[in-house]
Amino acid sequence: MNGAIYGRTGSSVPKQRRRRSVMSFEMVRLDRSCSEPLHQQLYRQIREELESGSFDSSASRVPSSRVVATTLRISRPTVNQAFSKLLAEGYLQVRKRSGIFVADHLPATFLKAARLTTTARTEHSPRVARRVGRMTDCRSGRQLDVGMAGPPSVIFVAGLPAVDEFPIAVWERLREQVLAKKGAHLLRYASSRGEIELRKAIAAYLCDFRGANCHPDQIVVVGGMQQAMLACALALINEGEVAWIEDPGFHQARNVLAFVGAKMVPRPIDREGLVIGKCSQQNSPRLILVTPSHQFPFGVTMSLKRRKALIEFAESRDGYILEDDYNSEFRFDGPPLPCLQGLDNAGRVIYAGTMSKILYPSLRLGFLVAPPQLVDTLVKVRAVMDQHSPAIDQATLARFITEGFFLSHVKRMRELYAQRRVFFIEQFQKWLGDYFDLEVTPAGLHFIAWLRRREDLPLVMRAREQTGVWPRPLSFFCIKAQLDPAFVFGFAAWSQAQIEQGLAKLASAVKQLKQRGAGNGSSFQIQPFSPATSSYWPSTAVR
Ligand SMILES: Cc1ncc(COP(=O)(O)O)c(C=O)c1O
Repeated sequence: MNGAIYGRTGSSVPKQRRRRSVMSFEMVRLDRSCSEPLHQQLYRQIREELESGSFDSSASRVPSSRVVATTLRISRPTVNQAFSKLLAEGYLQVRKRSGIFVADHLPATFLKAARLTTTARTEHSPRVARRVGRMTDCRSGRQLDVGMAGPPSVIFVAGLPAVDEFPIAVWERLREQVLAKKGAHLLRYASSRGEIELRKAIAAYLCDFRGANCHPDQIVVVGGMQQAMLACALALINEGEVAWIEDPGFHQARNVLAFVGAKMVPRPIDREGLVIGKCSQQNSPRLILVTPSHQFPFGVTMSLKRRKALIEFAESRDGYILEDDYNSEFRFDGPPLPCLQGLDNAGRVIYAGTMSKILYPSLRLGFLVAPPQLVDTLVKVRAVMDQHSPAIDQATLARFITEGFFLSHVKRMRELYAQRRVFFIEQFQKWLGDYFDLEVTPAGLHFIAWLRRREDLPLVMRAREQTGVWPRPLSFFCIKAQLDPAFVFGFAAWSQAQIEQGLAKLASAVKQLKQRGAGNGSSFQIQPFSPATSSYWPSTAVR
């Protein structure tokens, strides 16, 4: 393993030896479309290589940051950031006038843990089911973790609420109360439909505040929107059957459809929401996934006309609509709009809600409101997945709602987000207004910012890497849609000071790169999502 650093670009092994570097970076795979910053990916993968204990650390000179940067086609500051962290954590050490070396003594616990991994590792990829390969893989190195947590410096990721504003003390008090009252009852296996108190509380909230038309018996408590989508897809779509999905749309939705083997038909979005268009009987969708209150990521609200047409269409094709109502509570120009489910007299809409934005995402609680004829099917599917959601959290949430904390939290957060939103718009204009046109929609916790000049795209991508300020390219959410370059900026989870700091940091990196002419002649492109094409229906087939 001499002196070799391989990049994801497939660069070949450098022929001439570089001094006495035995450190190998052949496992380094940097994924530019992943939310994890490049410096963090590099840091983590080098650390894993060291922990694997697979080489002798006695003559382990680390190649210079320049060499690593050139070979992996990343910037030197990115490499330096990764090296600094490894130095600080004792994996590497500086030897005066000689350079950077692997530390003489790596932390023993790491090596012990790593030996197990090494033994377990196999040379070949394991044979796994095709459905796994159909899903997108935001992998970096050997580790796959689709969690959004990331390092604290990663900001402006869309979809994160202000979790530090969550009233933890109230929640804990209610949790203690339900445990004191129900005791061991909450520790047994619970209902696959969900705790009855919670179902009643949710049904009342939806009827009073979301314009829904439902009974607690129609509610199935699930582990967030992810499980809601998966349960519906498993319940309603046979492998090879058609499902419609918004394009651009929620990336986790397309993973669900890929996983169940649906023929995914991306549908464009216009000013009224998802475009229904023409479609032969044979290609009728079994399931249509939509975000009518606030289309993700465009923010369009589906018009009444389109809502009615969609329900009629689903009825005429014996299909179902899954209404993802992920953040309808956060509308800033008036009260939230009634949901699609409330309009449905045909029993075609399955409404899905989540606590991820209103409360906090790691709670993993959400719910389905199923048309009566589908309830048992969905309960059956939900039960086979993980039986039920945690009973203690369900009981605590029921109290949180019935005792009024839920509504006051929503109200407080709406006010907070309204302030952050206005501040974000102002600051964005100030710092990045020369580069972007910010599209301001009246709802939601993110904005789309369109690049004014296409040639700035590589600069912004590089600035993201350098700063760890991490708006996602709009193309990440696209399947076939070919859109002008833009970025999606979440604003809800950060204080005004952080918003200003983040925007200023990104703007200054873009400016510096521009002054250095760093983007000139770059062939850098953002790749849209492209899963195994076999799960896609050719566009011509649905016209
Ligand atoms: C469109 C959409 N739906 C739902 C969710 C929330 O999903 P979950 O409930 O699985 O956390 C998100 C999160 O970003 C989203 O963007």
